Amino acid sequence: MQLGVCYYPEQWPESMWADDARRMIELGITHVRIAEFAWSRMEPRASAYDWTWLDSAIRTLADAGLKIVLGTPTAAPPKWLVDAMPDMLPVRADGTTWNSGSRRHYDICSEAYRRECLRIVEAMAQRYGAHPAIVAWQTDNELGCHETVPSYSKAARARFQAWLARRYETVEHLNARWGTVFWSMTYLSFDTIELPNLTPTDANPVHLLDFRRFMSDEVASFHREQVDVLRRYAPNADMLHNFMGFFTTFDHYRFASNNSIDVAAWDSYPIARTEVIALSDDDKARYARTGHPDVSAFDHDRYRAIGQGRFWVMEQEAGPVNWAPWNPVPAPGMVRLWAYEALAHGAELVSYFRWRQAPFAQEQMHSGLNLPDNTLSPGGREVARAAQEIAQNEALSSLARSRAGSRAQVALVFDYETQWMFEIQRHAKEFDYQTLAFEYYRTLREMGLDVDIVSAHADLSRYRLVVVPSLATLSARFVQTIEASAAQWVIGPRTGSKTTDFAIPAELAPGALQTLLPFKVLEVDSLRPTLQPSTVLDGVSGIALYWREHLETREGVSVVARFDDGWPAIVARKQVRYASAWFDTALHRALLAGAARDAGLPVTYLPQGLRLRRRGDVTFAFNFGANAVEAPAPHGARFVLGQKTLGTADVSAWVDA
Ligand code: GAL
Repeated sequence: MQLGVCYYPEQWPESMWADDARRMIELGITHVRIAEFAWSRMEPRASAYDWTWLDSAIRTLADAGLKIVLGTPTAAPPKWLVDAMPDMLPVRADGTTWNSGSRRHYDICSEAYRRECLRIVEAMAQRYGAHPAIVAWQTDNELGCHETVPSYSKAARARFQAWLARRYETVEHLNARWGTVFWSMTYLSFDTIELPNLTPTDANPVHLLDFRRFMSDEVASFHREQVDVLRRYAPNADMLHNFMGFFTTFDHYRFASNNSIDVAAWDSYPIARTEVIALSDDDKARYARTGHPDVSAFDHDRYRAIGQGRFWVMEQEAGPVNWAPWNPVPAPGMVRLWAYEALAHGAELVSYFRWRQAPFAQEQMHSGLNLPDNTLSPGGREVARAAQEIAQNEALSSLARSRAGSRAQVALVFDYETQWMFEIQRHAKEFDYQTLAFEYYRTLREMGLDVDIVSAHADLSRYRLVVVPSLATLSARFVQTIEASAAQWVIGPRTGSKTTDFAIPAELAPGALQTLLPFKVLEVDSLRPTLQPSTVLDGVSGIALYWREHLETREGVSVVARFDDGWPAIVARKQVRYASAWFDTALHRALLAGAARDAGLPVTYLPQGLRLRRRGDVTFAFNFGANAVEAPAPHGARFVLGQKTLGTADVSAWVDA
């Protein structure tokens, strides 16, 4: 693992660049990402390029020995371009248009804008594609950020209609599969189909789903078009895009398919993320200065799979940020901890956002490795410490150099379409699939287990426990995978509840799973907070939250636990367990612990705030909690970092005897 930094030479006088580069190297930084918002400096006026400053910045950084990640500037179109083609501005779901004056003010479906993007990308690629110091290219910046996807423009409407025509071939097919006989929605031709916004009540869920699929493809093709140009000029550089945490607007597996990226890079802001996701107020308070212990790990483990083993942290918070409702200063030690956490999860690079805090414009309250007065910030000092420690520690530096991958024996299946379907049809106010997946994930990690987060199409044969928090549509192939598997399986509610056309399957939920688990879902019980069916599993009592299904079981399936009103809570057959509800944490824990034990996995209940992660032969322990805790290192373990007792924000690492 190496260290990097995000740098904006265009925001500082050229006289500072050489010293910046020298200090980066001194700090232990090897990679620097530049240029992703600098379009108006590369092309101050239409077709009047100015490369002199970028030539000089690249030369200065490369001469200092830094490797460069060059960003395409398409997330920040210049004002002259917007004025020349105002139709490129994005249209929101409420029909209003977004203005320029910040960033991401473009419609991803605008063909005219896409042509402009390819023009500037090709100009950059021609000039810099062969530069030996440029080791990677990043397209755009955080596609979909600031809710700029989906788009509701005229261009989006036309491209959506064309997408539908390709998918359904005839409008009669579409009418049949969409069920447009309902509410007189029948279409006579593709070019009369509207976007699914501004309807008095719900649009047809399959219309909404297809729109989300279409938009996901639009994001992927926007990136892909740029990559195709870049690869022609920079065949040896890595191609990447910086994805976001907890972000599901597009299908990242599809995005990453067909070699459209070489490495999955993502942007990690654990404290702000903890503040904005659906966690309890207690958890938000408890982890206000450390970030929730699973929040970064979840995306490390997800993006590792998306990058097929290769992932980078392209932007890592190194102090307070500016975009959450509250932006506390991280507890001392956290910036260092996050570096080790990324190492433990297999990152090849951790790159900090940003080199120096800018005293002007939108992000003036966002920290960097340096303060605006150019002295090292508290976070910058922690990065320096981590860099030094790793360099001087044989066990850690050889791990950082190695390609040692994940040895996780637990897989958690995460599926983007499931997220979209249950967002379109929540049915219970709090039902959020990603939150459910996170709940399972954290419960597994609280038991000391390492987890790989994978797609439903991944090879699952090497895992001993596979957890499927839910999977809206079930293919026959997936059911065969379960059947042929020797692993223990835990399958959550709403699995197999929909067809790919967003309808209820003919055999009812859980669809194709009924061949393995003979039961069907008679009714769905959406639970307001006052409705709390309770059950007991392995001596642990708890309740269902938000969602519960009434199952009718047939011969061959056993009821492992029942609710107080008699409905099955957990059913099982052979190595497969099905949870008919979203349970509270205690029950999820009992459920997963039972499956883990049957899988022969060691279950260690960790003290609050402590997490483990193994890589190669090293086990890391991280304390995100407020109290000092003991790491469960086995007798005779050789500590290569820290010790058995960990205070807040401490890290230790050991090799088993
Ligand atoms: C990211 C973005 C960066 C910067 C950062 C601030 O979302 O990619 O450009 O704005 O957030 O935390």
